[in-house]
Amino acid sequence: MSILIDYVVMCLLLHSLVLMTFCFNNAATSCSKRCYCSEGEGGGGGGSGGGKTVRCSNQKLTEIPQDIPNDTRRVYLDFNLLTSIPANAFTGLSHLVELDLSHNDITQLESGAFRGLGSSLQFLDLSANKLAHFNPDSFEGLRARANLTNNPWHCDCNLQMAMPRVDLEPVSLTGIVCQTSDPEEMSVQGLAFLLEPDVDLCVVMKRTTDVAMLVVMFGWFTMVISYLVYYVRANQEDARRHLEYLKSLPSRQAKSEESSTISTVV
Ligand SMILES: *[C@@H]1O[C@H](CO)[C@@H](O)[C@H](O)[C@H]1NC(C)=O
Ligand SMILES: *[C@@H]1O[C@H](CO)[C@@H](O)[C@H](O)[C@H]1NC(C)=O
Repeated sequence: MSILIDYVVMCLLLHSLVLMTFCFNNAATSCSKRCYCSEGEGGGGGGSGGGKTVRCSNQKLTEIPQDIPNDTRRVYLDFNLLTSIPANAFTGLSHLVELDLSHNDITQLESGAFRGLGSSLQFLDLSANKLAHFNPDSFEGLRARANLTNNPWHCDCNLQMAMPRVDLEPVSLTGIVCQTSDPEEMSVQGLAFLLEPDVDLCVVMKRTTDVAMLVVMFGWFTMVISYLVYYVRANQEDARRHLEYLKSLPSRQAKSEESSTISTVV
């Protein structure tokens, strides 16, 4: 009797084990710590087809997982606690098409943060973060469409000069809405910066440069004038002394001296 019960229990256990293996193999395998991987079939008929998807959403992550498989096509890291994206954070993921970093606390994108993704990445979500300063070097080589909305952008001359230096899809930059600005009186706060073609936030800096240039030129001018004045004064003194010396000599001696000077010159 007990042997029969044992047998039934074992059978059930084996059955569930087989089921579990079956499930894991076909749906969600835990591949990267705290992330779920799936071999999707394209999800909703997207044009870019299937491939591996890694979901690490809402996991309180403070760092980007380093064990994402290198054939992954989509990575979801939204709703975590990331604060910065270091250089080369995703190199090796050369098949990545979509990267979602939205709803984190990202304040900084280091130069080369997305290096290695240039030829594959099509969509980059950086919305709802804490980005204020635009670092064009972090987007080097990237031609993706980026979502840069819902960030506290600080619009200043640096940002204005940085914008033309990125290859992102131009529509991405319309997501830069100024929360603060420098100079403040330009009143671009709350506006999509790219859509304000007349605003020149570099005008103040240009003015400052002009003033600095003027000060330097004035300084040089003063130095030249003082030198000239000094030179003339010193010469006058010399000339006066020489004249007095000549006067103090008997006239004949003076003449002979003059002739000797001439002979030496000749
Ligand atoms: C992924 O890495 C393995 C070795 O770690 C390598 O053999 C393979 O070619 C790589 N695949 C891609 C798509 O880069
Ligand atoms: C960008 O992100 C915001 C917030 O995360 C979202 O509401 C919006 O639809 C996104 N825009 C695009 C073009 O995907």
